Amino acid sequence: MTDRFLVAGGARLVGEVGVGGAKNSVLKLMAAALLVEGTTTITNAPDILDVPLMADVLRGLGCEVEIAGDVVRITVPAEPKHQADFAAVRQFRASVCVLGPLVARCRRAVVALPGGDAIGSRPLDMHQAGLRLLGAHSEIQHGCVVAEATTLHGANIRLAFPSVGATENILMAAVLADGVTVIDNAAREPEIMDLCSMLASMGAQIAGVGTSTLTVQGVRRLTPTVHRVIGDRIVAATWAICGVATCGDVTVKGVDYRHLGVVLDKLRAAGSEVTTAPDGFRVVQRQRPTAVNFATLPYPGFPTDLQPLAIGLASIANGSTMITENVFEARFRFVEEMMRLGADARTDGHHAVVRGVPRLSSAPVWSSDIRAGAGLVLAGLVADGITEVHDVYHIDRGYPQFVENMQRLGADVRRVSDPD
Ligand code: UD1
Repeated sequence: MTDRFLVAGGARLVGEVGVGGAKNSVLKLMAAALLVEGTTTITNAPDILDVPLMADVLRGLGCEVEIAGDVVRITVPAEPKHQADFAAVRQFRASVCVLGPLVARCRRAVVALPGGDAIGSRPLDMHQAGLRLLGAHSEIQHGCVVAEATTLHGANIRLAFPSVGATENILMAAVLADGVTVIDNAAREPEIMDLCSMLASMGAQIAGVGTSTLTVQGVRRLTPTVHRVIGDRIVAATWAICGVATCGDVTVKGVDYRHLGVVLDKLRAAGSEVTTAPDGFRVVQRQRPTAVNFATLPYPGFPTDLQPLAIGLASIANGSTMITENVFEARFRFVEEMMRLGADARTDGHHAVVRGVPRLSSAPVWSSDIRAGAGLVLAGLVADGITEVHDVYHIDRGYPQFVENMQRLGADVRRVSDPD
């Protein structure tokens, strides 16, 4: 069955919505469980498709994985398998985060390359370069990244770009290496702080958490732990931006608003009243949003994952918006779908200019990735008529109970299942 969403434009989003654990955190935390023998428990796991997919990757490596509600229990044997094959990893890219833990635990890892991605090229050169500096031999063989080491030792590693995935893989290998590893120009995303905090509770020694220099003193072994995943800032901001675009009043619970500093600043500049609380925030938009320029950057900059939502907002804003995409070059493909909905947009390389129109006009559109799908639903909310958003399995990979939450906020969004 292929599902699509029918989005009726015109509703003002009003109400309260809770967010679960961060997708970009939970998958890495599940991989980090490989670093210890025994049972690691992760709570506040989101109800999204990528969690059972990651569970399958871990089962293929010899682990037992139990998912009960928002609790994931992973039991790792004394000697996990070291080979994650294509059938397991092809469905989602985050599975490459087993590479670092496997090299650390087994001294050998064979992880199939997940292949292309709709948002741009996603090489693993920095992951491999970091592992090489730690003493592993790494190369691509028969469609797999293969890494082998007799021992892993501390090293000074400077990343050319603060890659989230490379920082995580190198970190997870370094915690069990001999000696001290320094990762310079490390990514600082909150999900990396979350990983550091789980590793620390397992007994890892990491200094500089939250900064761009992580210093890791390797330890001989780690012990199992219980860890709660941080709230999903991207899902939280999705509800907020949809609220602002529809001149709504949305309260989001279950997220640390400090993880959305630049995003909330941009919403204020667009005319929102933003109030914060220890467990979330509220946005109230009383008039048509004002156009606000933005450029995507590694954290704490504006997240590339919110670029499609921000373009959706720009498409109905008062004025013209200049957007610069600095992380994933192909993300602007989404703009073509927006143009089918009547957005007045042009792209040139890393730049897009969007001239806001008062309303979009409904059309059938196709999601190409998780966030593009959410951006198209936002566009449907501010379009005349009923917008059909196809290929919504992308949205299901990143947003728990997307339709239910939209409806809770008063949006007229329905899921329709069609035969293939
Ligand atoms: C993660 C997030 C993704 C988010 C992205 C940037 C997960 C599961 N996904 O992806 O949602 O959009 O961070 O915040 O956490 N690069 C290289 N060589 C490498 C690694 C990366 O050139 O070895 C480049 C990429 O092509 C891209 C940039 O670095 O242009 C950033 O990628 P990276 O931060 O690694 O993103 P991911 O970890 O894949």
